[in-house]
Amino acid sequence: MPQPLAVADETGAFAAAVLAGLAQPQKVIPARFFYDHAGSQLFEAITALPEYYPTRTEIGILAANAGAIADAVGPGRAVIEFGSGSSTKTPLLLRAIAPAAYVPVDISAEFLFQSAAALGADFPGLAVLPVAADFTTAFRLPAGVTALPRLGFFPGSTIGNLAPPAAVDLLRGFAATLGAGSALVIGFDLAPGPGKSAAVLEAAYDDAQGVTAAFNLNLLHRINRELGGDIRIEDFAHRALWNADLGRIEMHLVATCDTDFTAAGETFLLVAGETIHTENSYKWTLPETRLLARASGWVPADAWSDGGGRFSVQLWRREDGRMEP
Ligand code: AVJ
Repeated sequence: MPQPLAVADETGAFAAAVLAGLAQPQKVIPARFFYDHAGSQLFEAITALPEYYPTRTEIGILAANAGAIADAVGPGRAVIEFGSGSSTKTPLLLRAIAPAAYVPVDISAEFLFQSAAALGADFPGLAVLPVAADFTTAFRLPAGVTALPRLGFFPGSTIGNLAPPAAVDLLRGFAATLGAGSALVIGFDLAPGPGKSAAVLEAAYDDAQGVTAAFNLNLLHRINRELGGDIRIEDFAHRALWNADLGRIEMHLVATCDTDFTAAGETFLLVAGETIHTENSYKWTLPETRLLARASGWVPADAWSDGGGRFSVQLWRREDGRMEP
């Protein structure tokens, strides 16, 4: 039974992160801990909110430019999707480019094998080879895939959770994993610009129905559930803000009064107004995305956007390592 083991490991990692993060002067909890069962369901609900434009905008861009993407990458590739989750955007890409193999990579083995099986049923003849792995660490591609030309797929602006240095490291890792001659289709949520105000951005992270607030506050429920916490959830409020200097949306949990609690065997105190920083969602300008590509071993080849300049889907090719002047 690998499942209980995986859950136990994750709980240990959660406890360690909470103890370390809440001991800092600016308290933090890493964003990856949002995604327990309840959190994953809340995130699915977020992607359908009227204010949360990224998911539907990216799907629109993929649908509108599927032909151009197919022309640029050609058929017969092995598509490697990093953090495939429920693979909702994948059929759009697969139908367009007619690949030879599909390799979904996800840390959640349960979700991974379920959605891989469902996708395999929709694409008879396609080799579906799921890999249960943490894509932020080096992992091996399945045998057989390495003989095919490879295309990475990293949609959803997942890259946005990483600060620039970590983003460079991750994308360099993708270049190493995918190897020579590979390409990458990657989605970026864009920084505010002519067609996109900071208000649009902030509303996407602070919706009228309070689903994003519930998603954020679920971290505290998760501490109570998994780490024996006694947090008074009603002492906290959701806050989302655009940090223009650092080019990111920040989510915080704000203490609305002085409040104390125990969790994982430790006692913590927050004074009124103090926050726990729970997420960064970096937004990039188009020139920054091109610099990011070059800094991480890739060459930007194509970019497609929506009319409003909200989101960008890009095709990168791996740098070939040839001498330059
Ligand atoms: C999954 C990281 C792309 O930053 O937009 C959505 C997560 N957080 N609403 C994002 C999220 C709050 C999402 N990413």
